[in-house]
Amino acid sequence: MSQTRHVPVMLQRCLDLLAPALEAPDPQVPVVVDCTLGLGGHSEALLSAFPSVRLIGLDRDKEALRLSGERLAPYGDRATLVHAVYDELPEVLDRLGIPKVQGVLFDLGVSSMQLDEADRGFAYAQDAPLDMRMDQTTGIGAAEVLNTYPPGELVRILRAYGEEKQAKRIVSAIVREREKEPFSNSARLVALIRDSLPQAAKRTGGNPAKRTFQALRIEVNGELTVLERAIPAAVQSLAVGGRIAVLSYHSLEDRLVKQVFAAGAATTAPPGLPVVPERYQPRLKLLTRGAELPTEEEVAENRRAAPARLRGAQRIREEER
Ligand SMILES: C[S@@+](CC[C@H](N)C(=O)[O-])C[C@H]1O[C@@H](n2cnc3c(N)ncnc32)[C@H](O)[C@@H]1O
Repeated sequence: MSQTRHVPVMLQRCLDLLAPALEAPDPQVPVVVDCTLGLGGHSEALLSAFPSVRLIGLDRDKEALRLSGERLAPYGDRATLVHAVYDELPEVLDRLGIPKVQGVLFDLGVSSMQLDEADRGFAYAQDAPLDMRMDQTTGIGAAEVLNTYPPGELVRILRAYGEEKQAKRIVSAIVREREKEPFSNSARLVALIRDSLPQAAKRTGGNPAKRTFQALRIEVNGELTVLERAIPAAVQSLAVGGRIAVLSYHSLEDRLVKQVFAAGAATTAPPGLPVVPERYQPRLKLLTRGAELPTEEEVAENRRAAPARLRGAQRIREEER
């Protein structure tokens, strides 16, 4: 068990962003949803910092639910943990009879537990079965993606989700190799990527397999498709005055969050109206200027915080648009 696995990213800033909505005397029991429970680090801090809140915690990974369940047990029925993909938030709230919530937190990406458990196949530094499913009870793993997708589709995934400039070169090598023997483990893929890249590409930034692994993980878990539905659904579930905070770990996630927040914070009035009618007024107020980054001290203590980007917004109007 690594020392860093329980360190929640940008914790104090997340608490500060959500605080005004969770400290308000009305309603008497504010509800906060942690859409990415993981090991329960942020959730535990929310329950402890805001003694009147009720927390709903979601995760698609059953092992994460088990571990955070143990951690949050002292908070009894103040915490309700649900096995769900986070775009199911509206259905989960419906089932629990909760019409609106005061706070929502997303801490996207993989948990340190998922990275540390070698057999889950997320880490390129250790040889392991190429799985990468966050929910191991459903869907296909990374090996099946590599062994069965048409080459053009693999190139698209590596480019779009990994921002990999050498996608074509890597995919040609993958296709050549998978015909000899299907992929099952990560070490063979890591070696193949290294061998297929030109020297210059190997010199830029970290392990050359990093971008391909990120792309496969996003594809296997449908991460961006789910997030695209989940952020608007979460904004929709906020009561007026409610607040949302989102921690992203790569530019694709952050761009998506930025777009949803920016659209909510803009008026939809046709240009040239002398007075903007209520129904065209923005639903959201941005709480962060651009994306906020972790401090150098935090990154020095917890290297997994390094790529983090935090954005927050407040619901200021009810109107549907
Ligand atoms: C970075 S971790 C969260 C860590 C947590 N904030 C903590 O302090 O322990 C992200 C978690 O979100 C979960 N997750 C990722 N995508 C999800 C999705 N679409 N629906 C539900 N859970 C998801 C992962 O399984 C993982 O446990």
